[in-house]
Amino acid sequence: MSEPHPGALASDSVRHIAPYTPGKPVSELARELGLTDIIKLASNENPLGASPAAIAAMQAALAEAWVYPDGGGHALKQALAARLGAAPAQLTLGNGSNDVLVLLAEAFLTPGTEAVYSQYCFAVYPLAVQATGARAVVVPALPATHATMPLGHDLDAMLAAVTPATRLVFIANPNNPTGTWLEAAALERFLARVPATTLVVLDEAYFEYAAQAGCGDGLRWLGSHPNLAVVRTFSKAYGLAALRVGFAASHPEVADVLNRIRQPFNVNSIALEGARAALADSAHIERSVALVAAERPRLARELAARGLPVLPSAGNFVLAHIGSAARAAALNDALLRGGVIVRPVGNYGLAEYLRITVGRPEENTRLLALIDVWLRGAPA
Ligand SMILES: Cc1ncc(COP(=O)(O)O)c(C=O)c1O
Repeated sequence: MSEPHPGALASDSVRHIAPYTPGKPVSELARELGLTDIIKLASNENPLGASPAAIAAMQAALAEAWVYPDGGGHALKQALAARLGAAPAQLTLGNGSNDVLVLLAEAFLTPGTEAVYSQYCFAVYPLAVQATGARAVVVPALPATHATMPLGHDLDAMLAAVTPATRLVFIANPNNPTGTWLEAAALERFLARVPATTLVVLDEAYFEYAAQAGCGDGLRWLGSHPNLAVVRTFSKAYGLAALRVGFAASHPEVADVLNRIRQPFNVNSIALEGARAALADSAHIERSVALVAAERPRLARELAARGLPVLPSAGNFVLAHIGSAARAAALNDALLRGGVIVRPVGNYGLAEYLRITVGRPEENTRLLALIDVWLRGAPA
């Protein structure tokens, strides 16, 4: 009798998905190497943590943990709507923005349709698209030699890749893992030209950090572009990555569709309360943004001075060119042994690079000191 292969019962597209590679958890490195003093600069989390007000709100919410959450997320939607100048009916809450990205793919893609995204885009887009059986159209990124935005999204080429079968275009602004961004005027031109039969998913996970870069605010374009969905998260600047809260703002009809297919209780009560309190604590966001505004250029400068140039970044991370895949792997290994977790990006086809989250000043200093030690001992 032949061996049973129940996995083969899944669709071909699902079986061929390469699973997402997350940043190494601190606990895992502690187990592997017996280290205690570990810092993680691998997942673009906020090194200042969550707002104390959010922590207090979550602690209070724990007392009600036995009650199902408000499946409609009424209070958080009201707060978000007031903050964003949108209507609650335009909002879809998700278990992280990842959930919202997957909902968009599930709602709009079927076999026979197409989704367009850029080479080196955030890894969840290919995963979400592939699971639906739709065709992924991967548009080559700008070349590494590009004068202003190496490895960035090529918007003209992405527009040219849109066909009558294209239901979704994914754009990350700024993009992870490259950090590269698109300026507001370029996005406006793109939105004006993309056909109404294609929904543009504008992923602004790093929106709070990107204001200085001239990325614009996707929400401004919702009124004039019913085929736009702007996706944001509480995982990054708001420091609530473990809670899993994100949202889309879109035309109410798009929100209606997404709300039909989401799980009835896809955002838990602790997360709803934490996000609401975090949203109200603008001082914490200002501190977090100021930290990155000061430390990202310092990290970029110091890495470049060590022969490890970084791509331009509008996020809370930099993509550093280590020279070769072997050197990147060796540096990653040395950093792990020194208790610093950064992110190898070979799964993105960027094995010569390491992605480094901007940490607190002392964390960045520790990273740089370890790099110095490695450089002194590293083979040329
Ligand atoms: C560009 C981008 N979009 C979306 C996400 C998903 O974040 P979350 O699901 O935590 O909201 C990330 C996380 O790394 C990201 O970098």
